[in-house]
Amino acid sequence: MTRAAITAVGHYLPEDRLTNEDLERMVDTNDEWIRTRTGISERRILWDNDKATSYMAIKAANELLDKRGIGAEEIDVILVATVTPDMLFPATACLVQAGIGATRAWGFDISAACSGFLFALNTGARFVESGQHQKVMVIGADKMSSIIDYTDRNTCVLFGDGAAAVLLEPAPDGYGLIDSVLKCDGNNWEALRMLGGGSLNPPTHETIDQRMHYIYQEGRTVFKVAVQGMADVAAEVMQRNGLTGDDIRYLVPHQANERIIGATARRMGITMEKVMLNISRYGNTTAATIPLCLHDWERQLHRGDNLVLAAFGGGFTWGATYLKWAYDGADVAAEAEAEMATEA
Ligand code: UT7
Repeated sequence: MTRAAITAVGHYLPEDRLTNEDLERMVDTNDEWIRTRTGISERRILWDNDKATSYMAIKAANELLDKRGIGAEEIDVILVATVTPDMLFPATACLVQAGIGATRAWGFDISAACSGFLFALNTGARFVESGQHQKVMVIGADKMSSIIDYTDRNTCVLFGDGAAAVLLEPAPDGYGLIDSVLKCDGNNWEALRMLGGGSLNPPTHETIDQRMHYIYQEGRTVFKVAVQGMADVAAEVMQRNGLTGDDIRYLVPHQANERIIGATARRMGITMEKVMLNISRYGNTTAATIPLCLHDWERQLHRGDNLVLAAFGGGFTWGATYLKWAYDGADVAAEAEAEMATEA
């Protein structure tokens, strides 16, 4: 069977930083609480009102194309995982298609909150495995600051903005996405939600007054389910594929809370050295967390490394994917550096 492998990674992070100290001046919180309860020290925010999720997704997509050394017209499909699309429709994928000039591509958005990237990655992989497409771009992008109430200390300390993209292509033998456990359960949808703006509560003066266009989270409820759910699926995908902690090079977890990530690592039988963790710098960027980790760790990744990607998010949605990394990241970084030196 043809498998799909990640063959390149691109990213974009806004320059502006929102630190815990900044938040101390905005709401009744403190650096110590935020760091010990979540692991977050700062996040990046795209304050510019004229720039939305597609702006970040296009930047990430262009970096990806540069690194892979291909033109946008070679892309067959664009999938954008996001809960903060520029607008309800058209899909942000269409804006990215036009923005990068992917003249042959079709695409659509995937809404699965913090599991969005994982679900999009698995959707994209099926297009490659079926033989229908050769180059599928999967982007996780969220401008969370556009749906955050910066007077609500329960949520405003948690989230940040960012985007990252991967390319899926047919994998060399034995590499690529091998197995996944993916789940959703809508019974507890109310624990993490944005009520306003959809067909149930179209925008009115009343929905605005009731602050329904912001994220609401019952933190403790979500924490309990997430800590169990993410560890369960990671353990299940390992067990199904006969993997022990020693076989795993990295856990690539959704970055919502360092304590949830630690619990998943313990369940997998791995130490924190084998965990990609950048929550302290970016906070929870929803669909972007996992590909941003892949970007940050790309240089350390070697062909043949076993990775487990795991996520849990609103819906609830959750899942884990086992893949064998298909290229030496250090070579890509060296090439990019050489190219930048030539351009300079
Ligand atoms: O990414 C999608 C999925 N989301 C998640 O996985 C998030 C899951 N949940 C969590 O990560 C945690 O529940 C939070 C980080 C959101 C909260 O941590 P917690 O340890 O569960 O705290 P809590 O909600 O139980 O609140 C403890 C106390 C409360 O005060 P009382 O009621 O004990 O007096 C809160 O009001 O901390 C208070 N609190 C804060 N204090 C200072 C809540 N937010 C803050 C804050 N600063 N920002």
